[in-house]
Amino acid sequence: MRVLIVGSGGREHALAWKIRQSPMAEKIFIAPGNGGTAREGENVPVEADDIPGLVRLAREKKIDLVVAGPELPLVLGLTEALEKEKIPCFGPGAFAAQLEGSKAFAKSLMAEAEVPTAAHKVFEDYDQALGYVRSREYPLVIKADGLAAGKGVVVASGFEEAREVLEDMLVREVFGKAGERVVIEEALEGEEASFLAFCDGHDFLLLPSSQDHKRIGENDTGPNTGGMGAYSPAQVLPPEKYQETADLVIRPILQQLEQAEQPFRGVIYAGLMFTREGPRVLEYNVRFGDPECQPLLMRMQSDLLEVITACIEGRAGKTGLQIRPEASVCVVLAATGYPRKYAKGHRIEGIEEAERDPLVKVFHAGTTYTDGILVTNGGRVLGVTALGENLQDAIDRCYRAVDRISFEGMYYRRDIGRKGLS
Ligand code: AMP
Ligand code: GLY
Repeated sequence: MRVLIVGSGGREHALAWKIRQSPMAEKIFIAPGNGGTAREGENVPVEADDIPGLVRLAREKKIDLVVAGPELPLVLGLTEALEKEKIPCFGPGAFAAQLEGSKAFAKSLMAEAEVPTAAHKVFEDYDQALGYVRSREYPLVIKADGLAAGKGVVVASGFEEAREVLEDMLVREVFGKAGERVVIEEALEGEEASFLAFCDGHDFLLLPSSQDHKRIGENDTGPNTGGMGAYSPAQVLPPEKYQETADLVIRPILQQLEQAEQPFRGVIYAGLMFTREGPRVLEYNVRFGDPECQPLLMRMQSDLLEVITACIEGRAGKTGLQIRPEASVCVVLAATGYPRKYAKGHRIEGIEEAERDPLVKVFHAGTTYTDGILVTNGGRVLGVTALGENLQDAIDRCYRAVDRISFEGMYYRRDIGRKGLS
């Protein structure tokens, strides 16, 4: 098969690395890719949101399968655009992608499917929203409805903060169209976990649980990022709970979409919070998480291309998913300043040394080759990922590998996975 992977982060490098191991893979293209994907296949300079460009590329390169990494192309209708050319795409169509593209849509689908989630209200009018938050207890969670690159969620601790957020979103429109509508919901308390599944429109194959570390600082402090590290399995969601949790948060959503004749083919990601009253869905994503993808694919034994093909052909129910018993950890090495301003172009050293441990793989995120030299090219630069007999062993291996890598301004959290040990 000739495969085109869309995207340029650590997730896409992990996808390319795993797909390349499949005997079914003939040639892999990545658009636009990064320094790591360049070694797994051929990078092509087409951006992930350039739908006509991606369709043209898929046609020209005689692609048999497109795998979408990020959500944006899916929300923009990549799957339908490729369908017109009879090119299958692993990732839902634009309607189902609203599960991530619109928080109000996700909330109403959850209500229809009776999925447990935080109580909420939707507002478009500033004065009405203001009247509502004046009467509420705090903390209160305010979310921009649309895609806001992980910056659209604020947990407001008091009325004044809530007012400022609402003014930013509804009046000053700092998030553009994404913030023209807001979802205001009750703040929940508990441990978070990510729960992902391969879906064929009807059936699904569960991946093991994982946990992201969204804040930039150790002990979950400072601003939110795309994710500073992840590990699997998550202690709050052990294997014996997978099935019942999936029946609560994954199966009903897939059924609801199937009934609407908008079957979900792709990876569904439920962001969960385990409250005292049980699991609650914080959000859905319509793709692999980044960085969750990296530790999850390290644990996956099955052929990824075979699984994806089974999903596209509607036979996931007849396929199994082999998962290694080991735990895995991914530590993100970032450029100092991320998630705000950071420098690019610094030389990266030590990846080969780090990968001398056969249970370690270094996935590239923000990297590129300049004159044959690997340099930093983004906020999240690398995702050092390790397997281990247990979580402690995986953490130890991972940080030993991290110690061998260096670039100017390298920053990382030293506590990735620690929460899973207690
Ligand atoms: P989301 O993009 O909806 O997952 O929100 C990003 C982060 O905000 C989550 O990972 C949580 O840490 C936090 N969050 C979202 N919704 C809530 C909520 N209802 N209560 C408490 N924290 C929340
Ligand atoms: N790691 C969180 C996400 O991919 O949305």
